[in-house]
Amino acid sequence: MVTSSAPGKVYLFGEHAVVYGEPAVPCAIERRARVTVEAQDNGIRVHAGDLTLDGFTVEYDGTSGRPDVDVSDDLVDAGMGYINEAVAQAQDAAGVEDVGFDISIESEIPLGAGLGSSAAVAVATIDAAARELGVELTPVEIADRAYHVEHTVQDGEASRADTFCSAMGGAVRVEGDDCRTIDAPDLPFVIGYDGGAGDTGALVAGVRRLREDYGFAADTVSAIGDIVRRGEEALVDDDIEELGRLMNFNHGLLEALGVSSRSLDAMVWAARDAGALGAKLTGAGGGGCIVALDETPETTTALEYTPGCEQAFRAELDSQGVRVEEQ
Ligand code: PMV
Repeated sequence: MVTSSAPGKVYLFGEHAVVYGEPAVPCAIERRARVTVEAQDNGIRVHAGDLTLDGFTVEYDGTSGRPDVDVSDDLVDAGMGYINEAVAQAQDAAGVEDVGFDISIESEIPLGAGLGSSAAVAVATIDAAARELGVELTPVEIADRAYHVEHTVQDGEASRADTFCSAMGGAVRVEGDDCRTIDAPDLPFVIGYDGGAGDTGALVAGVRRLREDYGFAADTVSAIGDIVRRGEEALVDDDIEELGRLMNFNHGLLEALGVSSRSLDAMVWAARDAGALGAKLTGAGGGGCIVALDETPETTTALEYTPGCEQAFRAELDSQGVRVEEQ
């Protein structure tokens, strides 16, 4: 039996634009998915107590149709898709077929909310399942295999950002297939969560259409790339105030591209009014989470009192990526 964990992430800059070849800078946060894997004769049994607010347990042999659980079909399909594909990657790495697994998932990362929960689950599952089969993969190999999991499950609409960040930890820079870790100061992240989730596929498709129909939307996407490049300079200079200003700008451009929402905007403004250095949505948008920079408790307190915000919490930058917890 092996337990591995991997962190979630926020986008400091660059979501959506990264789909069109611009750079993005995601940062791992100290909120993890923990996956415990035990080989068994056949079938895949998944216990996922904390994957949704209700939680669910799935007993599933991979062949007998849909598991019978009390959450939306889309969530179950997506969840099972990530786990099946992650297991297939571990089997491929170990050169074995037809091994069954008993898998337990505990996640501190809300699902579909822009914090990289599916990437963290895929990364931790590949690491734990490969170790259970006697193979130790490097974080870079795990990142690559987890990217292929997301790519398959999300019909080709996935960048390498989430999976690379979760596998490596810290701050990373992703531009197309070029992924690298970068230095970052301690960033005082505060996260606000509206309890909802955006439809990543629909949001990505919406930006794609705008970009095709309007030259100024294409310019907006390029301008996000410019913000990311300036942000990289601010990271090198440890200039947190400049990072905050650039986050505000990035949020404005994402808003213009139609991927914000009333609750995300309300949380962004609550954070700014509370004195945060900057605030923006993180991830696909449409609902889910915002990330703000504030060393003081003011932003967390303000978010707790903001209508539409269900949870507010501090999340330090996590310098560690995937790691084995128990073997
Ligand atoms: O919501 P998330 O964490 O899955 O992030 C999606 C980020 C996008 O740039 C919109 C899509 C992608 O795969 O990069």
